[in-house]
Amino acid sequence: MKASRVFATAARITPATMSAPLSQSDLKALQSLIDWWAQAGIETAPVSPAEVKRAAPQPRREPQAERPAPARATAAAARAAGYGGAPEQNARDIAAKCASLDDLKAAVESFDGCPLKATATQAAFSRGNPDARVMVIGEAPGREEDREGKPFVGVAGQLLDRMLGAIGLDETSAYITNVVFWRPPGNRKPTDAEIESCRPFTERHIELVKPELIVLAGGISAQTLLRQRAGVTQLRGRWSEVQIGDLTVPALPIFHPAFLVRRPQEKAKAWADLLNLKARLSG
Ligand code: URA
Repeated sequence: MKASRVFATAARITPATMSAPLSQSDLKALQSLIDWWAQAGIETAPVSPAEVKRAAPQPRREPQAERPAPARATAAAARAAGYGGAPEQNARDIAAKCASLDDLKAAVESFDGCPLKATATQAAFSRGNPDARVMVIGEAPGREEDREGKPFVGVAGQLLDRMLGAIGLDETSAYITNVVFWRPPGNRKPTDAEIESCRPFTERHIELVKPELIVLAGGISAQTLLRQRAGVTQLRGRWSEVQIGDLTVPALPIFHPAFLVRRPQEKAKAWADLLNLKARLSG
């Protein structure tokens, strides 16, 4: 549902109309509004129609997420933003010295080169089984992940678990992380500079886990690790390769579960991609 329609529905609900039972479509709209606010990082809902109106997003920002993305995560963009020089090299040196996942987790937690660390509660490093055949890599922690210090534990994570469960995978047979370890304020997209500051650790993460297959959840993760500019709509469902030094890992981009929460009509494509993954695992 378009955000403008959701807000219009909310604005219709006043103390006078509250005594009338809400229709199914009003309830659906309200749930959608609450989800939408939560995904935008707004934790307290407006209480009056005037506040609802003020809180309404600019139409330009409405089509979030899976539209064809502008070029992202290039080293040049990161350098232009002040990264990619000494801090990135520093991160690369630190990551290269990590001989185990415990070392890497500790190194990430004490790394100060990602600006997101200043506003996050803690790093969300990983969850699941590092010996699993499948490594799932998403975008960045959200509010729940920031609170718990683990990736994909909020609404999107619950959907991710159900998606993996549908093809027989769980925390014992999948290992889950993100390309960015700290929550961007208000759940905004991470910038190129933020992504690049984490890249040395993400790449070392893959080298240490050495998964048989990688699932790239969402456009940011796919663009970052495949060094592609195309949007996830173009990339999803097609096997590609993540290349790190001498290591080559087959990788399948899929829609991000948070996108599927907002656009359940796209779940059929995600299901096709999951079956593709399942076939590869059993083949
Ligand atoms: N979205 C992500 O990409 N990662 C998380 O950990 C949570 C939401």
